[in-house]
Formats: sequence, structure tokens, C-alpha cells
Amino acid sequence: MSSEDIAIKVEHVAKRFRLGLEDTMHDTFGAAMLDFIKSPLKNYRYYRSLYKFDDSSGPDAPNQPADILWALRDVSFQVKRGEVLGIIGTNGAGKSTLLKILSRITPPTRGSVEIRGRVSSLLEVGTGFHNELTGRENIYLNGTVLGMRKKEIDQKFDAIVDFSGVERFLDTPVKRYSSGMRVRLAFSVAAHLEPEILIIDEVLAVGDAAFQKKCMNKMQDVGEGGRTVLFVSHSMSAITRLCHRAILLNQGTVLQDGSTHDVVSAYLGSGQGSPSHKQWNDPATAPSGKVARLLAVRALDADRRISSAMKITQPIAIEIEFEVLTPGHILMPHFHVFNDEGIRLFAALDQDPQWRGKPRPAGRYISRGWIPANLLSEGLLYVSPALTTLQPDIPQFIVRDAISFQVMDSRHEGAESARGDYARNIKGVIRPLLTWESETAEISGQRSTA
Ligand SMILES: Nc1ncnc2c1ncn2[C@@H]1O[C@H](COP(=O)(O)OP(=O)(O)OP(=O)(O)O)[C@@H](O)[C@H]1O
Ligand SMILES: [Mg+2]
Repeated sequence: MSSEDIAIKVEHVAKRFRLGLEDTMHDTFGAAMLDFIKSPLKNYRYYRSLYKFDDSSGPDAPNQPADILWALRDVSFQVKRGEVLGIIGTNGAGKSTLLKILSRITPPTRGSVEIRGRVSSLLEVGTGFHNELTGRENIYLNGTVLGMRKKEIDQKFDAIVDFSGVERFLDTPVKRYSSGMRVRLAFSVAAHLEPEILIIDEVLAVGDAAFQKKCMNKMQDVGEGGRTVLFVSHSMSAITRLCHRAILLNQGTVLQDGSTHDVVSAYLGSGQGSPSHKQWNDPATAPSGKVARLLAVRALDADRRISSAMKITQPIAIEIEFEVLTPGHILMPHFHVFNDEGIRLFAALDQDPQWRGKPRPAGRYISRGWIPANLLSEGLLYVSPALTTLQPDIPQFIVRDAISFQVMDSRHEGAESARGDYARNIKGVIRPLLTWESETAEISGQRSTA
């Protein structure tokens, strides 16, 4: 890979905080921006900062003072020009700290960062703007920071205002904006001013649902327009949809760097994300009725491995393991599937002919139901395992949302998925792949006048 193709190069970056002390560097993007303006800027910025360590103790040194926290320990990676990189990890993993360093809001304690290209960043709520200036002034300020001429900004101005929906407040200082309005304008500016590198921290968590969708689509456009994008999110659907590649941060180090699917799977599978299997070892606390007791429930991928990250194009199995305590009853193991809005997608009842209408002897059993490939929609799904006796119907156990898993629809499945080559958000609680046929129809107008 030639160095021309590299947009961002991060080498052995570490960041130390002293707890209880405010970071002495700029805490807002606005303050950092004003600083930028004071120093002359070229369209192509290329900087290299190497911060000498003021004492010899690094993140791995023993006897760390109690008030020292290493938010980043030793982070290295490169981002190619035009790549859309997702950064994931638990709360406190160091994601925002990393983005602040890349946006030059705060310097690394050690290590170096190289960036080629104009950066526009949108970090947490509250950052992004200079408070005393109006919305209009902030738009021009941002554009100037990106090295644009007034005429260029004029051309984008209407699109920015239109997208943000804050037209009425354009001449109001942004300190009077609600946090939602602020984010709307900040996102519009960041995405429309054609930065070469766009850095976005969890913007989707703010703003209403309609605006979140707009943001996702806009970011998709930016990514497809060949710009470099760094995107932090806790939404695995957003990450899998937008990003070519992902990095998993854990306690300030890069735990994994690779394809989005692999990294998201590793994150979810590590138990840091959602648990896709659950076991009840203690009979005293296991969900149970007089007839049967729940032992375990699992979500399996097509290879019958426990997984929290399922491909939309592959079948998924839900496995319920239970113990029959009292023999002689006809049993109906079943489960319910809910999405993350709490909508019940369906209930599935065990129809294995082996046991239909037959009373079960005591013992341990596994019921495994296969959900067909290309039925579920992408997103986080919850499974509630349950079991009832038939004739009479007596519920034995039901555990609401016992396990969960993520269904992932990447843009690279082609004709194998219902998405095909369409890259944007697809609505609906299910996403079946239909059989499609087409034919050339006669023009009806011609037929009726003939
Ligand atoms: N200014 C600061 N002073 C002291 N500690 C800080 C400061 N900023 C961040 N930290 C600490 O650094 C660690 C990493 O924080 P960071 O905000 O980067 O996490 P994150 O991955 O963005 O988490 P989240 O998912 O919650 O946004 C945390 O332990 C946090 O408390
Ligand atoms: Mg954060």
C-alpha cells in the first residue's frame, strides 16, 4: 500500500488522564476550531505530532498512581483513503478519546497521528460549535476551517439549512439551541461541507428517529462518495450497514481489527454485547413448573455454533433444553421472537412429528427450531423460550427476552439477500426474500384504443 493511499495513520497512541482534573486542552470543538483559524491552514493538511513523554512511566508500568487513568494504552491502525471504518466497544473503552485525538481536540500523551486531508468531526453532544455565534456564523466558521471559500460555502448553505431543519433559528446563537437542534445542525454541516475525512461519534443516539434515518442515509452517501469516514456507534445495525471494516476497542487497546462482520461477531460473542445463550444450573432457581424445568436456551448459526451475530442469508436455530420431571404429559415447547422495539415477530411451536400427541417419559430433551434464511429483518432480536403442557394447557415456564442476537444484513450479499444491491435503510419487521418474475407487458392504452 503506497503512502498516498493512507488517510490516517495512528501509531502507538496512548492517552493518560488524571482523574479529578479537567483536561486542560480544548474541551469543545469550537474552541479547537478558533485555534485552527488563528493559524494559517492549507487545503491539504498534513501534520505529525509526536508528544514526548514527560516521565518514564507508561501504561504498563507497575505502581500506577491511583489518580492516573490510561484511556488509550497502545493504539495503532491505518485507514485507507475512501474507507469507512467503524469503531466499537463498551462504555469507557476509549472510543471518544480516540476521536478527540484524531480531531486534534486533545493531544495524545504518547505516540503519533498522521492525517492527510481536511477533517470534519462531530463528537459528543455539546461539542461541534462555538456557543456565542449564530447558526449561520457557525456554518461559515466550519467551512472556513475546512479550507473552503465563501462562495463554496454559499453553494452548500441552503442544503445544510434544509437538511438540519433549524431554519427559523439560523440567526440565534447556538447556545440557545436544544441539544437535538445542535446535533442536527452540527451533523448537517459536518456531512455537507465535503470534508475529505469525516469523523462522527454516536450521532445516531441523539435526535429523533426520523433524523437518525436521514443521518444514516447521508453518511452512506458520504462513504460512497469516496470520502474517508470514521464512525463510532453502539448500534451494531448501523455499523454493519455503513462500515467496510471495524475496530474493537477494549480498555484502551485494539482487541480486533478486520471485516465488520468478524469484528461485530467477536464483540457480541465476547459477552460484552448481548448474550446468545443462557443456562440454569441450579434447579432451585431454574424456571420450572411441576412437569418440566428449563435447563438452557441457545441461538445457533447455520453451523450449529452458538452465535450472537447471525447472517441474514443463513438459517438460525433456537435450541431449548429442558428436563421432564413428571412423565406422561404431552408437551409443547415453543418460543417467541421480539425485536428491539418490543414488537412480537412471531411465536414458533415445536411440531416435530416424533413427539406430536405423545406423552413424554422423564428425562432431558432438546427442542431445536430452525428459522429460515432470509426471513428476519436486520437488528437485535430477543427470544423468549417457553413450554406448556397440552390437554390441559398448563404453562410450565416462559422467560421473557432470555437471550438475544443480532441479525446482520451486509451490502455484499447481492442476490442472495432481499436487500440485493440496495444500500439504504429497508423498513419492515421481517425481510423475506421473495421469488420474483417479470415479463414485458403490452401497453394497455394501445390495446383499449385499437
Ligand atoms: N477528560 C477526562 N478526564 C478524565 N478521564 C477521562 C476524560 N475523558 C475520558 N476519560 C476516561 O477515559 C476512559 C475512556 O473514555 P471514552 O469517553 O473515550 O470512552 P468511550 O469508549 O467513548 O465510551 P462511551 O461508549 O461511553 O462513549 C473512561 O474511563 C473515561 O472515564
Ligand atoms: Mg464515547
